[in-house]
Amino acid sequence: MVKPDAVQRGLIGEVVSRLESRGLKMVGGKFMQIDQELAEEHYAEHTDEPFFGDLVEFITAGPVFAMVWEGADVTRQVREMMGATDPAEAAPGTIRGDLALDLGRNAIHGSDHEDPESNEREISLFFDDEELIEYERIDESWLYE
Ligand code: RTP
Ligand code: MG
Repeated sequence: MVKPDAVQRGLIGEVVSRLESRGLKMVGGKFMQIDQELAEEHYAEHTDEPFFGDLVEFITAGPVFAMVWEGADVTRQVREMMGATDPAEAAPGTIRGDLALDLGRNAIHGSDHEDPESNEREISLFFDDEELIEYERIDESWLYE
């Protein structure tokens, strides 16, 4: 998900472009405003954290671009491309390392590859089944051996 800070900064295209160029395939996308209830559910794992209130306020502060991507080992690969949670610690070349500076304004959200269910859970929070589209990218035989 492109978070509200990156949407405001005109970085939707940059984020999409990086994932597309890698060879990942977008199968769902939605420009939307997250309400309080959805934000609290999306970040339910952080309910008891001291930063939970600020996190919910931030993610509801403006529109986001929610996406579903497919590809080999996609959840882990996207996490790698995102970089560390704190942009100050994120390696150059990663999305956060190149596009953000502050922990509370870290540009992008991705499902957690260490929690195999987070992916499906988050997809169903943001998308109905019919909003996900199966298709072949024309370059698939050149992306995968
Ligand atoms: P996200 O869920 O947004 O993709 O980020 P993440 O997995 O890399 O990090 P996570 O641990 O899930 O934390 C969610 C978001 O909460 C904010 N945060 N603030 N003040 C703090 O100590 C703190 N720790 C985390 C970050 O904006 C993080 O993206
Ligand atoms: Mg997380």
